[in-house]
Amino acid sequence: MTDRAPALKLNNNREMPIIGLGTFMAASEVIEPMVDAALEAGYRFIDTGYWHCNEEAIGSALNKWLRSGRITREELFIATKMPSTANRAELVEESLKKSLEALQLSYIDMYILHFPFGYEYLDLQQRLCVVDNTTDIVSIWKAMEQQVEAGRTLSIGLASFNARQLKRIVKAARIPPAVLMIELNVYLQQKELVGFCKALDVAVCAYAPLGSPDLPLLMKMMGFDSESIPALNALSDPVVLSIAEKHSKTASQVLLRHIVQRGIAAVPKSMHPSRIKENFQVFDFELDDDDMDRLYVLDKGRRARMYNTSIFPE
Ligand SMILES: NC(=O)c1ccc[n+]([C@@H]2O[C@H](COP(=O)([O-])OP(=O)(O)OC[C@H]3O[C@@H](n4cnc5c(N)ncnc54)[C@H](OP(=O)(O)O)[C@@H]3O)[C@@H](O)[C@H]2O)c1
Repeated sequence: MTDRAPALKLNNNREMPIIGLGTFMAASEVIEPMVDAALEAGYRFIDTGYWHCNEEAIGSALNKWLRSGRITREELFIATKMPSTANRAELVEESLKKSLEALQLSYIDMYILHFPFGYEYLDLQQRLCVVDNTTDIVSIWKAMEQQVEAGRTLSIGLASFNARQLKRIVKAARIPPAVLMIELNVYLQQKELVGFCKALDVAVCAYAPLGSPDLPLLMKMMGFDSESIPALNALSDPVVLSIAEKHSKTASQVLLRHIVQRGIAAVPKSMHPSRIKENFQVFDFELDDDDMDRLYVLDKGRRARMYNTSIFPE
């Protein structure tokens, strides 16, 4: 087993490993080899969500490791997210209990409010989405705070919130968000929002840290109009490739190292054990100032946003 990832210190004094395993769009059948490869490589942070439809498979894979004694619960950092059809204060406890049951855990490390808005009804197979215009993020947050007090989650966080929404929560919170999870990669560097989070002592975790290159294809295969998703691939960017060559590393390792050196956590996803291992090997080299500057100028801002909810009807 290799060394574990360094961790970010959260505002509640807990620690979150800086590299975790992303699992979006990973079907249950591929979860066990993914979790095995990740834990063997040294990952301890696994990111899932109700919407990933794989909490149960992750629960079984983790349970196998826990029962064998190869890992202890305390070593793991498991994050999951609330269903966006349950973005209501009165549904928070029930949703978290369902996730705990699926994951076969008595508590999770981070419960995340997945979106600042909710859906009354959502059926991606049928492409039916009805936005719930009554979502009240502050009352949901208060219900999430109760889950910390009840011991069902150690920390609570937000995903895809902007600075204004984050400020609203921080102002109303008894327990401030420990983490904001946002789409962030070399093409979408989110410098302003990251600075805002740092000033508020909210850790940042990058989703789509490799730029989610297959997302347009995946959305198209699911029948969505993926025209509004930019066709970008940071993994083949010439600047990234030249820095990778300089350090005898791969493009994905350079992309992840850039994020880690900014003091940001990341949850790259791969369904291939060899890539899962590769994505964790980012702690044995350092990008110099020149590399960092060359990567900073690749920022394309909002034009590079892949996760664009406008692809859903309504
Ligand atoms: N909070 C939220 O709202 C939210 C939203 C979106 C995503 N997320 C989380 O963030 C995670 C990551 O985002 P993402 O999955 O969209 O994108 P990503 O991690 O940026 O990219 C994943 C893609 O890159 C490929 N890949 C991974 N490692 C590679 C490597 N070493 N070399 C070449 N290709 C590689 C994967 O293909 P293979 O699988 O074929 O290797 C997959 O197609 C998700 O899985 C999820 O856990 C959270």
